[in-house]
Amino acid sequence: MTNIQSFFRQSQEQVEHLLKIELARHSNISSHLNEAIHYSIFNGGKRFRPSLCYATAIALGASAGKVSCAAAAIELIHCYSLVHDDLPAIDNDDLRRGKPTCHKAFDEATAILVGDALQAYSFELLISLNPEIPAAHKLQMTLSLAKACGFEGMAAGQALDIASTNQICSLDQLETIHRFKTGKIISACIDLSAQALAFEGSKQHQALQCYAQALGLAFQVKDDILDIEGSTETLGKNKGADQLLNKNTYPSLLGLIAAKEKAEQLNQKAIAALEIFGSEADLLRDISHYVIHREN
Ligand code: IPE
Ligand code: IPE
Ligand code: MG
Ligand code: MG
Ligand code: MG
Repeated sequence: MTNIQSFFRQSQEQVEHLLKIELARHSNISSHLNEAIHYSIFNGGKRFRPSLCYATAIALGASAGKVSCAAAAIELIHCYSLVHDDLPAIDNDDLRRGKPTCHKAFDEATAILVGDALQAYSFELLISLNPEIPAAHKLQMTLSLAKACGFEGMAAGQALDIASTNQICSLDQLETIHRFKTGKIISACIDLSAQALAFEGSKQHQALQCYAQALGLAFQVKDDILDIEGSTETLGKNKGADQLLNKNTYPSLLGLIAAKEKAEQLNQKAIAALEIFGSEADLLRDISHYVIHREN
């Protein structure tokens, strides 16, 4: 196993362990909703965003555990976004992470409520974990996460994505969609981690923000490419879903070859942004390489 693979494995175990312990503390008022929440979290996600939080902490000279609250909170927002993204009113998908989507395994009302509950729970964990982080920093983190997932962030991107479906969209418009629906949450990993460690506004934080902007767009460009080149089995979601819905994607606008070139350019840009760092940012460099070469 390569260094980056074992880092991903460790990060996955770390965030899942934490989420399991935290969820177990909660009362079982609706066992149906609780079951659907567990189903939507513990279903084999890559945990890319928590890994990015941990790698950011390491690049800033801290241990991964110092940003646990950010890692857990962002993964919960991500899980909620997937449950809602798969709903019939949005992408109407029936396979996620290799299993029936939440609304298929349960029902639509439950899937909507899973999203509601996970979004709120994300903020609960952000505030309650890592009590050693000063309240002023927690406040910055709360604000950053709220902006990243709300109408200035992921939700806005999803709205633009829906509005552009079945329409001809320009490359600039597609870039905006991708930067909002996917990039904002990826940037939040960097921002929340930097804020937790008192690096807000530092030159390191600025460099990391440039890195995250390129990485976030690269992540969605590669997601678009995998929709064509991947296999349903490896992806754990239905291949060809974008074409079926007539979605604008990088390959649909540019062709596969140019989309891959774009992903490679973004990888170079992300790595160049880390110039001020030494080997402490090697995990971040490996993450960028991984994003555009991954198979799921
Ligand atoms: C899929 O995200 C949705 C996008 C934003 C492209 P991931 O590829 O990180 O999905 P999981 O968490 O591993 O299932
Ligand atoms: C999803 O983008 C972005 C989210 C906010 C969830 P996609 O719709 O391309 O993600 P997949 O391909 O269904 O995972
Ligand atoms: Mg979608
Ligand atoms: Mg989708
Ligand atoms: Mg996709």
